[in-house]
Amino acid sequence: MRVECSNCHKVFDIPDERLPKGKQIAFPCPACQESIQLDLRAESGQAGASSSQTEQRDLPKGDALKKKILRTVKNLPPMPQSVLKAREIMANPNSDFKELAELLETDQAIAARVLKLANSSYYGLSGKVSSIQHASVVLGHKALAELITMGGTASILGNTLGGYGLEAGDLWRHSLGVAFGSRIIANRKNPELSNDAFASGLIHDSGKLILDPHILERKELFHEFMANGQQSFLAAEKQILEFDHSEIASEVCKNWNIPQALTIAIRYHHYPSRSQGNQLAYIVHMADAISMMTGLGLGVDGMHYQIDDDAMEFLDLQEEDLNVIMEEVLESVQKISEQMH
Ligand SMILES: [Fe+2]
Ligand SMILES: [Fe+2]
Repeated sequence: MRVECSNCHKVFDIPDERLPKGKQIAFPCPACQESIQLDLRAESGQAGASSSQTEQRDLPKGDALKKKILRTVKNLPPMPQSVLKAREIMANPNSDFKELAELLETDQAIAARVLKLANSSYYGLSGKVSSIQHASVVLGHKALAELITMGGTASILGNTLGGYGLEAGDLWRHSLGVAFGSRIIANRKNPELSNDAFASGLIHDSGKLILDPHILERKELFHEFMANGQQSFLAAEKQILEFDHSEIASEVCKNWNIPQALTIAIRYHHYPSRSQGNQLAYIVHMADAISMMTGLGLGVDGMHYQIDDDAMEFLDLQEEDLNVIMEEVLESVQKISEQMH
């Protein structure tokens, strides 16, 4: 039985034979020692177990669930304004980035994270950057914009996603891997796309933020679907919810005022061949696969990633390129995140 601690959100698999059927029990969480309470009365016997699955089967899916989700999408944490502004600045090299540095001074949580990131060994300035203005002078406006994009999304993507088996920070590290990978691939294929590739790589899985509570609510059904180990978690979303996290992501993007180019890449990141040749969608898809291969943020989905048949050819990539990109991605993520945790 999968048990999630309500305090630290760690998920444990406890062998069913060790659980006393038909009783209520409490035991300390092995990770944080907080008491975990389990009510096994409904689990007693086959009838109880299947009734919880039956109840979960009755939960809304398809259009009904989408409607429900759209009513609550406003509850998502907003995308910080400074992140959107950073993208504008990336797009326009003549814009005044002093203005951005000033804007950041008013957003202290992001400013603190940007400073930490600027001092990571990734930028080769460990411990030497003392202020946002200083970071912008030393690293240049493009790097500062990139830092703000990372700093601003760290809090949104940093949470535990119990439904996806992702612990705090897992999705953010995976997303960083996809961002770096997307930029590397874009630089080879079409350098003009490199900034958009980085940003869309970073938020490509934002649909998971929305779906996570609905997956937890149906966790018995997901458990049952995944039990034979042959199916991807994406296929489980499609089967049980009747849509997947990339389909719902366009709603998140609308809510966050994410530009169209990024929205299309995010929408098709699992099946880029349906995007009518959208380069960014292929780039994010391949970077997603590479990030999974490096073991970044696997969660429950990692081992069954379906790579599009045409992606390698479309992006002019060879097998040996993948190893080189994987190494670079892993090194970048390690360097950039060493100060964050
Ligand atoms: Fe995804
Ligand atoms: Fe992903």
